Amino acid sequence: MTCGPDERFRSNEPYGSDNTEGAGFHCGPVGVNDILPLRARELRAGKPMDSARFPEDNDEHTLHFAAWSENTVIGCLTLIGNTGKKIPSWQLRGMATDRNWQQKGIGRALLNFSENRLREYCLAHFGNPEVRIWCNARTGAVPFYKGMGYKVISDEFMIQKVGLHYKMEKNIL
Ligand SMILES: CC(C)(COP(=O)(O)OP(=O)(O)OC[C@H]1O[C@@H](n2cnc3c(N)ncnc32)[C@H](O)[C@@H]1OP(=O)(O)O)[C@@H](O)C(=O)NCCC(=O)NCCS
Repeated sequence: MTCGPDERFRSNEPYGSDNTEGAGFHCGPVGVNDILPLRARELRAGKPMDSARFPEDNDEHTLHFAAWSENTVIGCLTLIGNTGKKIPSWQLRGMATDRNWQQKGIGRALLNFSENRLREYCLAHFGNPEVRIWCNARTGAVPFYKGMGYKVISDEFMIQKVGLHYKMEKNIL
């Protein structure tokens, strides 16, 4: 498969607000530079911004999404595609909500929105909306992912310099 994300998935313009209408924020696809400051602030605190870059940030099947209020990015996540499998598998990385906006439904709305866009992307590019998403979830964030339908599929393990994690996954049909 040679086709990559099209402009609709790369654009800074939101093309749908799903379930966030009237909620004071909206979600949409963005470029990595739009979300890097938030990713660094929340997930690489005290380290240089470049430490928050992922090697796959500019890969063909990497999609970045943000939630923002007015002109401020308040939530972010990245989906990294491994499309060489029968059911494409995508790693969810860099999920964060600005600390002043946590526990207000931003993360739930952004992940819902991104899963929906990923299904559309897979249907458009691979002819099948079926998708598997996995992540290395920080132990403290496991309840959030469980609430989003993700299941724990590993024992707890340490990622050096970051902390304890569980591997989790969700199959989306
Ligand atoms: C984990 C995170 C992304 C969740 O985002 P959020 O915007 O605060 O989440 P929401 O407000 O949408 O929460 C949705 C539900 O999950 C629950 N939840 C969110 N974070 C939780 C946590 N750490 N522990 C337990 N429950 C949590 C909320 O209470 C809410 O439950 P409800 O629907 O019963 O009310 C956010 O807390 C965060 O950025 N944390 C710091 C960075 C981090 O750990 N990222 C994950 C890396 S793997």
